[in-house]
Amino acid sequence: MEFQAKWIQAPDKQEDVCPVFCKTWKNAGPVKRAELYLTALGVYAARLNGERIGKFVLAPGWTVYEKRLQYQIYDVTEMLKEENELTVTVGKGWFSSHMPGWMESEDKTRRANRPTGILGELHLEYEDGSSAVIPTDETWTWGESPVRFSEIYDGETYDATASVKCDAPAAELDWTKDILIPQEGEEIREKERVEAQSVIITPAGETVIDFGQEVTGYVEFTVDAKAGDEIQILHGEVLDQNGNFYNANYRSAKAEIHYTCRDGLQTWHPMLTFFGFRYIKLAKFPGEVKPEQFTAIVVYSDIQKTGSLSCGRPEVNQLFSNIFWGQKGNFLDVPTDCPQRDERLGWTGDAQAFVKTASYNYDVEKFFKKWLHDMAACQRADGGIGHVIPDYLPDGTPSAAWGDAAAICPWQIYLTYGNKEVLADQFDCMKKWVDYITGATTTEYLWTGGEHFGDWLGLDAPSGSYKGSSREDFIATAYYAYSTELVIKAGKVLGEDVSSYETLYANIVKTFRETYPVYKTQTEHVLAVYFHLAEDLQKTADALADLVEKDGSQIMTGFVGTPYILHVLSEYGHSELAYTLFLRRKYPSWLFSVDQGATTIWEHWDGIMENGEFWSTDMNSFNHYAYGAVADWVYEKAAGIRLLEEAPGFEKVKIQPMTDKRLGWLDASINTRHGKISSKWTYVGDKVRYDISTAVPATVVIGEQEVCVEPGEYTFWS
Ligand code: BGC
Repeated sequence: MEFQAKWIQAPDKQEDVCPVFCKTWKNAGPVKRAELYLTALGVYAARLNGERIGKFVLAPGWTVYEKRLQYQIYDVTEMLKEENELTVTVGKGWFSSHMPGWMESEDKTRRANRPTGILGELHLEYEDGSSAVIPTDETWTWGESPVRFSEIYDGETYDATASVKCDAPAAELDWTKDILIPQEGEEIREKERVEAQSVIITPAGETVIDFGQEVTGYVEFTVDAKAGDEIQILHGEVLDQNGNFYNANYRSAKAEIHYTCRDGLQTWHPMLTFFGFRYIKLAKFPGEVKPEQFTAIVVYSDIQKTGSLSCGRPEVNQLFSNIFWGQKGNFLDVPTDCPQRDERLGWTGDAQAFVKTASYNYDVEKFFKKWLHDMAACQRADGGIGHVIPDYLPDGTPSAAWGDAAAICPWQIYLTYGNKEVLADQFDCMKKWVDYITGATTTEYLWTGGEHFGDWLGLDAPSGSYKGSSREDFIATAYYAYSTELVIKAGKVLGEDVSSYETLYANIVKTFRETYPVYKTQTEHVLAVYFHLAEDLQKTADALADLVEKDGSQIMTGFVGTPYILHVLSEYGHSELAYTLFLRRKYPSWLFSVDQGATTIWEHWDGIMENGEFWSTDMNSFNHYAYGAVADWVYEKAAGIRLLEEAPGFEKVKIQPMTDKRLGWLDASINTRHGKISSKWTYVGDKVRYDISTAVPATVVIGEQEVCVEPGEYTFWS
């Protein structure tokens, strides 16, 4: 679409105040249809005649703004009157934010100083067949909105006593229109509401509200107040070991709400920012406080739930709940590492670790397609992929397992949904990533040199380090092989010539085997088997099982090894050990955090340690989805719903449950592009009953039995 509108800005605006842009007009006659095309440099909330337009929160979302900026189209026909006023309030959002919070760089300064502005056109089609366009231009006016400040990390300041005078002329903003694209991703929406559970007066004497669930979004409060009464709200994820409010782990992100009340009863929530929290501290709040005054509005991308998991153990069900909440809390237009501290960035390593689980839990095809387009848009000239997408860390050297998101994510989205388009769109980006490694390595057919995150947060890390003990070159080479293999597979699906990558792959595997005859850590074993690099896969998986047992039947893996370890154990005859790890309650384990009261997945196995102290203040998120990747083992191995590479999109399925009496029963289902597939097993004494319901032809494998069935419902026993 060709926009005739101009970018407009608020000239001479006080630095932090969010401007509101206004336009009034009278319709020339009865209107048949009215469509608003709108976008912003920043995030906007638009109103027509006082009513909020659309449901998109934090529009226009977060993309690689230098190359791609989404505009939205709203049908506003029903909202029109004869005389109309359109207003658009704009906050800094991700656009002119000082992200990331922990470092300074030229690029960050450039971004933080970008001016905010809007561009839009209202298209009116009159009943008499004539039409008119109202574009943004210098005929618009602007004023200071009641939003005195708004930004992603630091929160929002709102003055309900402010009277808005929207009478200053807007000025043209010199900004390109070449970046405009129609909305590609899911809209971010207010998806759920969680009522406050209790009001706590902490030992420190502070008033804290507990929502009972860590969420991402914002608080809505209702208060009866006098004009000028002040409200100040701080956000936190956990209480400290004394039961006091705590948010030192947000680091430099202030995450605060400041609200100046008007007279009387009023209900308000922020609209141009978001927070990750379970608790809020009322640093200032007028009058007596009751839980019913507070609701957490849960905000995330409008993804539809497709997966479900439940079983016979309450603590495991809580883990499942934490995994789903972890996804909701971090799927806010881009897959983020965490929603609370001064990061909230599209970390590639986290996304590739979780993408399979994500794609079973929710329909994330559109969500990932948009993010992957952004990845391609900011792929560096040499093919390197930044640590975060959009690339707000352009000085970071590409890391193995992080940059490999370029190959792993599109491949998984293709497999889960069966749509080749994502591969076609990303194929160049995938190839260029592999070519980047080929160009960057210091040793042919391995990936040596460079800077890597290694097995990030692996428990076998030497003291003081965040990186597990697995060799960085080993991990890097293993992923080099894996990404090359995915390029080959994707190329074959697309009918491309991939012979040069086939030769490369054979050479990487050969060199890997010669260079690494011995595997030292759990993660090294896991990668050697999962990526089919070891010459003897069974022997390597057996050695992994021995090592895990020697380590005390506990995981020592970090971001790299954790998503795959249970798959490898189950696939090679060590299902019982996989369950032992899965059901373990002592630290380190998935259930340890559950027993510590977690309602989302933690960044560290021991974010809160056994002695009640925090792992650290400098890097301790309580809503980091990565380790929730264990859910894909539950779907695929425990429940046995196996996605077949030859039948992408679950056109056919193999169902091969791996039961364990300790779980009692398990019920899993995935709503696929071809209908629902569910697998339930239950221990009845020493026998197991299997209830399978499949919308697609299935091969069911139970013990030694293998049967092919048509769509339908079946019961088996073993
Ligand atoms: C982020 C991660 C990320 C990591 C990489 C952290 O600060 O929160 O989840 O993958 O850095 O080093």
